[in-house]
Amino acid sequence: MDTGQSGVVEGDGTVWDPRLVSMMPNHASDDLATWLAQEVQPMVDDRIERSIRDRRYQDRLRYQVGTGGKRLRPGLVLLVGELCGCDQQPLLDSAVGVELIHTFSLIHDDLVDGDRHRRDDPAFWVEYGTAEAINVGDMLLAHALTLIPDEGTTLAAEAVREMTVGQQVDFALADRRDITEAEYLDMVEKKTGALFDLCVELPQTLTDTDLDIDGYSALWPAFQIRDDLLDFEAGKGRKTIGNDVRAGKHTLMVIHADDERVYDILDKPAEQTTAEDVDTVQEIFEETGSFDYARHRMHTLVDEALAALETLPDSPQRHRLIALGRYCTDRDH
Ligand code: IPE
Ligand code: IPE
Ligand code: MG
Ligand code: MG
Ligand code: MG
Repeated sequence: MDTGQSGVVEGDGTVWDPRLVSMMPNHASDDLATWLAQEVQPMVDDRIERSIRDRRYQDRLRYQVGTGGKRLRPGLVLLVGELCGCDQQPLLDSAVGVELIHTFSLIHDDLVDGDRHRRDDPAFWVEYGTAEAINVGDMLLAHALTLIPDEGTTLAAEAVREMTVGQQVDFALADRRDITEAEYLDMVEKKTGALFDLCVELPQTLTDTDLDIDGYSALWPAFQIRDDLLDFEAGKGRKTIGNDVRAGKHTLMVIHADDERVYDILDKPAEQTTAEDVDTVQEIFEETGSFDYARHRMHTLVDEALAALETLPDSPQRHRLIALGRYCTDRDH
């Protein structure tokens, strides 16, 4: 295919065709998941593999990257970068950098949440132990910051700091029974939203742009609400459902149900929480309409996010951002 654009020449002299959205045939297609899986994922994974060549890390990295994942964040970086007219090389480095930050965050997150599975496979800490989970996670974060172009490094470090604040709040909320929806949303804005915000902001630091899609960030809490709902479905890839219940996590359903029986179960140590306890929580969420409420909030947030794209001129990237918004909540994993 003659794309009319040249590929990116890598450090080792190979020419890399990034196959960004505007270079793809049929780019009006709404099949976001296919684009992520067939275009973004191979490109990002290959680049991760080639950018971390230290043999002491390679099999660990292959393990974690090979467990799957949607590659939503690099996809978002590429879409926004194309809207801003970014150069390909710094854009690709940014896309790979955010995925590595995400990878580091998942390795550490499973450790702190006590989750033994991720994407249907043993979590990194289960496979390689806690010492390696901490160390490899640290390496990935540091490597990501070296990969991200200088103009965006401080922004990226700030996003990671914000994410860790969100994680602190996530731990702290587990001990309380009086959490408000506003507190939940604030926590999510940090633990999940900070990295997604970086995906939107990073390309904007790489070029002069008057792009204004700030309202699109209403999508991040919708994404996390879907994640909380997925904890009750097999798609979360954890072999069992109700891992957030075992870990005592306060989700939007917990806040909406506001039921002492739920809090009592959440307060139990994870190893004492039974499958019946998880069923009980699920039944209470059904009875109190808390699943319905969470789904409703999720959809209103998506509508809000997509409204922020209305003023954008029509383009393949705009179509894909709309599709990405829907995919965040329609996804089954
Ligand atoms: C999981 O994110 C972590 C959260 C912020 C909820 P994703 O669901 O995007 O993870 P992968 O990479 O696609 O597995
Ligand atoms: C993850 O949130 C947020 C970060 C990784 C910073 P969750 O703990 O809800 O994510 P999952 O459910 O483990 O993917
Ligand atoms: Mg977790
Ligand atoms: Mg967590
Ligand atoms: Mg979760």
